[in-house]
Amino acid sequence: MSEHVTTAAELFDAIGAGYEEAFGRPPMVAAAVRDLLAVLPPQARVLDVGSGTGRPVAADLAAAGHRVTGIDVSAEMVRIAREQVPGAEFVHADVREWESAPATWNAVCAFFPFLQMTRAETGQVLASAARWLVSGGRFALVTVPADLEDVPVDFLGHQVRVTSFPADALAGLVRASGLEVTDTRAETFAPDQPGAQPEEHLLIMARKPGK
Ligand SMILES: C[S@@+](CC[C@H](N)C(=O)[O-])C[C@H]1O[C@@H](n2cnc3c(N)ncnc32)[C@H](O)[C@@H]1O
Repeated sequence: MSEHVTTAAELFDAIGAGYEEAFGRPPMVAAAVRDLLAVLPPQARVLDVGSGTGRPVAADLAAAGHRVTGIDVSAEMVRIAREQVPGAEFVHADVREWESAPATWNAVCAFFPFLQMTRAETGQVLASAARWLVSGGRFALVTVPADLEDVPVDFLGHQVRVTSFPADALAGLVRASGLEVTDTRAETFAPDQPGAQPEEHLLIMARKPGK
């Protein structure tokens, strides 16, 4: 019998509000939101891929008057986000299977949704994000950069398999999706959880060419 691999939906249904308690507002996520708030037009349409508990990202962007839609594969995360952030809309869906009309969004955010996807799936979602953005639209990504593919790790007490990319390779994939990388930054972050190891957070800001 093959070993069951915990899906992102199972993992985040189990973690729920515990994610926000441990991670709060990581500096690279805060920096990405600040950068977006500085450049977005009023009442911008923002898609937050892997919106989690809705805080801080959807909450901060909606509080600034933007029209935010979060999408998350975890029913529990969507339930919490709808309760915590009534000023944004949340969709329960897997971004790998979800479709948006092209040129719909002024910004697409993706803060840590890729760690339970294969590298090919990450490439496909990046290409979708590029297609969904309006010309001149902004893309913001934060992840844990690492040359890992389907490696078992302990995450907040759960055994999961993680895939990621080294920073240069991920920036290259963002470019290959048709976006211009405007900034990359990295910083070490320590989750507020006993026994949790510090991890590197990589921020990639990008822009869809045009306008
Ligand atoms: C580590 S949490 C981060 C939540 C939020 N972006 C933040 O930074 O606070 C990753 C989130 O991405 C969601 N996610 C993972 N894979 C996904 C997928 N294929 N489609 C939609 N959401 C996904 C998870 O359910 C989880 O809520």
